[in-house]
Amino acid sequence: MLHRAVDRFLERQRWLEPLADFLQKIAAAIYKGTAGHALKSFLNGTWLGHPLHPVITDIPVGAWTLAILFDLIHLANRGSAVWIDGATLLVGVGVLAALGAWVTGYTDWSDTYDRERRFGIAHALLMSTALVLYIVSFFLRLPVAGHAFAIILSWIGYVLVITAAYLGGELVFNIGTGVNHHAWQTPPTEWTPALRESMLTEGKPQKADVDGTPIFFCKRGTSILAISNTCAHAGGPLNEGPLQGDVITCPWHGSRFDIRTGAVKGGPATVAQVRYETRVQAGQVEVRRAPDSLQPS
Ligand code: FES
Repeated sequence: MLHRAVDRFLERQRWLEPLADFLQKIAAAIYKGTAGHALKSFLNGTWLGHPLHPVITDIPVGAWTLAILFDLIHLANRGSAVWIDGATLLVGVGVLAALGAWVTGYTDWSDTYDRERRFGIAHALLMSTALVLYIVSFFLRLPVAGHAFAIILSWIGYVLVITAAYLGGELVFNIGTGVNHHAWQTPPTEWTPALRESMLTEGKPQKADVDGTPIFFCKRGTSILAISNTCAHAGGPLNEGPLQGDVITCPWHGSRFDIRTGAVKGGPATVAQVRYETRVQAGQVEVRRAPDSLQPS
């Protein structure tokens, strides 16, 4: 299988590890403090409710695919400048969008570990090389439409883009990076016993597994608040993070969630936590998924 061969190949590339360490340290320095966290959340796509990187990546791939088509039409029919001028424009549009994809991808990758980190940095190195080739190609095309070397550079870049896109696909579809970690949970939709009320201490996070779904509880006066305990970002255990007021911080990468609503208050998570309704029956806390909670049932 191709993905196994790629996996083994990347595992042997030990030189990637110090490079990845270095790049993640830079990201940690850039995204430090309140302003840094806000910028990181923006680039993660928290404001959009969806990772921003995959929204942008289709633009360069689409633009550069069309650019190849326009180059080919130009080479087949040299009479009109329209096609080669169009190719130059498409290469430029692709470069601009790829810069956005680069920044957002780097931001998402900065929270990865181990195998996903290896796939991520290989994906990034190929895409970065392709981007450099496309930038050179664009500046060669500008003064000389149809510059042969510029066309060759962009075609080499396109092969790298397709290879990198394969690795990006492996990251999401095979490894699960960036996937909502509630996607395959089955939260109870009918009232289901979770834990004894006596197990709850005022203002202290508590976790209980309910039919295989980990749920976070917190007693607030006469209310018992409950949201998914599995962080939507990468599955971190929320009950192990610090609780300040109504906001719990994930211990893995620092996503913050409102425990009253499940809403994301800070990235890298982009999807809200499942929220549960609670009631107490004969000393037993029961839960069911809140009907306005948009997560899978
Ligand atoms: S697992 Fe990444 S922020 Fe929670």
